[in-house]
Amino acid sequence: MRVTLTAIKADIGSIGGHIRPSVSLLKEVERSLQPHLGSDFIDFRLSYTGDDIAILMTHTHGTDNPLIHQIAWDAFKAAADVAKKEGLYGAGQDLLKDAFSGNIRGLGPGIAEMEFEERKSEPFLLFAADKTDPGAYNLPLYLAFCDPMYCSGLLLSPNMFKGFKFEIMDVSYTEGDKVIALVAPEELYDIAALLRDPERYVVKAVYSRTTGEIAAVASTTRLHNIAGKYVGKDDPILLVRVQGSFPATGEILEPYALVPYVGGFMRGSHQGPLMSVKRNSSVSFFDGPPIVSCTAYCVKEGKLSEEADAFDHPFWDYVREIASKKAIELRRQGFYGNAMLPYGELEYGGIVERLQALEGKFEIRH
Ligand code: F6R
Ligand code: MG
Ligand code: MG
Repeated sequence: MRVTLTAIKADIGSIGGHIRPSVSLLKEVERSLQPHLGSDFIDFRLSYTGDDIAILMTHTHGTDNPLIHQIAWDAFKAAADVAKKEGLYGAGQDLLKDAFSGNIRGLGPGIAEMEFEERKSEPFLLFAADKTDPGAYNLPLYLAFCDPMYCSGLLLSPNMFKGFKFEIMDVSYTEGDKVIALVAPEELYDIAALLRDPERYVVKAVYSRTTGEIAAVASTTRLHNIAGKYVGKDDPILLVRVQGSFPATGEILEPYALVPYVGGFMRGSHQGPLMSVKRNSSVSFFDGPPIVSCTAYCVKEGKLSEEADAFDHPFWDYVREIASKKAIELRRQGFYGNAMLPYGELEYGGIVERLQALEGKFEIRH
């Protein structure tokens, strides 16, 4: 059976700052989706990561389907009204446009979708990150799909010997989608040359070169490209199919033990270690640290299995401790150097104006 996975996330308001959504927000999203269950889509699940709510839907309508996008948009809209009534902070924050016109892309919510023929068993992972941007997945995806030091399947499993194709997007381009396709291992250094700049180049999708099938797809929205000003970080989601001709779940997870520094954290203007957290975790220290959750599922004829929380394991408790240490260490440096993002990525109202005002006071001396 051909099935489509649609994962959509949005920040529509949260308790006590940008911490987490209220239970009534999640209930309102669920109430809004429920009437469509079994008719417009086959199954759905809800979760939150920091202040973002993620909807996962399964259906047979393919990607970019107006009905599916409308259902998700209406659910977020309804819940944003609840957030406003409750006086939650940042109510409706990611719903940047008023009118829905057939596709949720470009309206604020992040979206990752893939359509494929279900395998006999179809295991996949849903990653959701908060207080960071889509480039946060660059290094984990590169290591899991390109590097035999992380993905032993590249050496041991013949159905991975041909490697993978990467689609990489230049998110600085605002007139449309600017995408390049590069294959690993032949173009490994070109892939690395782009992915090293996660604020500009982000992995959009990955495909198996053995079967041609889609392996991974990430949301690539840049909120400030839509809004024209800073309105929060993009807090990306990612879908990854695993096992067989794709990397094993554990190979996809391993790079997160590296705890890479990513852009985001407080005011979306800093660098912080990406901490792997359990499902439905809030943020805390310095509006962070940047967090990522991972829920594992199987899907059969569109029906989702029970979920397994991939980062709910004693191993990741230790990694979380490393992340806390890395966060504290970098925060000791405050605004200085690498602790804060470069000027072009700040976008946070005040400092841009402050620097512009200072520019006028510089004098040229010979
Ligand atoms: C980061 C984020 C928060 C806010 C910060 C200030 O993505 O959402 O760190 O930027 O709490 O928020 P405002 O400016 O709304 O008071
Ligand atoms: Mg928020
Ligand atoms: Mg968020």
